Amino acid sequence: MKVVVAKNYDEVSRLAADIIVKELQANPCATLGLATGSTPIGCYNLLSDFCRRKQISFAKVKTVNLDEYVGLPSSHEQSYAYFMRRHLFDNVDIELANTAIPNGNSADIEGECARYSALIKSLPRDVQVLGLGSNGHIGFNEPCTPFDSTTHVVELAQSTVSDNSRLFDDLNDVPRRAITMGISEILQARKVILLACGANKAQAVRDMIKGKITPDCPASALRKHPDCVVIVDESAAVLL
Ligand code: F6R
Repeated sequence: MKVVVAKNYDEVSRLAADIIVKELQANPCATLGLATGSTPIGCYNLLSDFCRRKQISFAKVKTVNLDEYVGLPSSHEQSYAYFMRRHLFDNVDIELANTAIPNGNSADIEGECARYSALIKSLPRDVQVLGLGSNGHIGFNEPCTPFDSTTHVVELAQSTVSDNSRLFDDLNDVPRRAITMGISEILQARKVILLACGANKAQAVRDMIKGKITPDCPASALRKHPDCVVIVDESAAVLL
């Protein structure tokens, strides 16, 4: 695991975007694994700028997202499908047919997990972008998720519900369940970039990098990955 401490959020975003730009310039048909949440927004904005300037194209790119809330239609402003359109897909030349996000509104949630798992298998990712939960989660693999997990339905941890409540009008509106790519599937990407910013991530960053490799900190599984770059800002790095 390579660890890069950047000055601030803008520098984290720039370093992450640089890695993806290089990948897309070398491999225009790349498959990207994408995360939602506040952290990658700056990186997605930069990628959108690069695309507008025609320095990269998403025309042949495929994407697979990590996760989606259960019970929100894709038109809901807090769904991850909506997030991806707003922060990336609507701003670049990607074909929406080449993008994949679990359907959290499916009538058959277990069937949807199996479908998504098979899809992931058929689309090996060149680069996987990850954020980090304040409890050490990656995707929505909460603490104690086995490292060999595949796509599954998860009951969100209380800390995750409370972290994510900032984006909802009311705590009661935050979905309690999600579909997430499993840890074993995350680890299958050729290259992984994890981004973490802010003091509320400092303990999770420390546990991920310096703690035991244990399901208590799902992100510690990334230390088993042969090509994982962790890019954190100075506030998230204070406990290193
Ligand atoms: C989102 C995801 C989550 C977030 C994490 C950090 O698709 O998989 O693991 O990356 O909860 O979220 P932010 O960036 O909002 O702090």
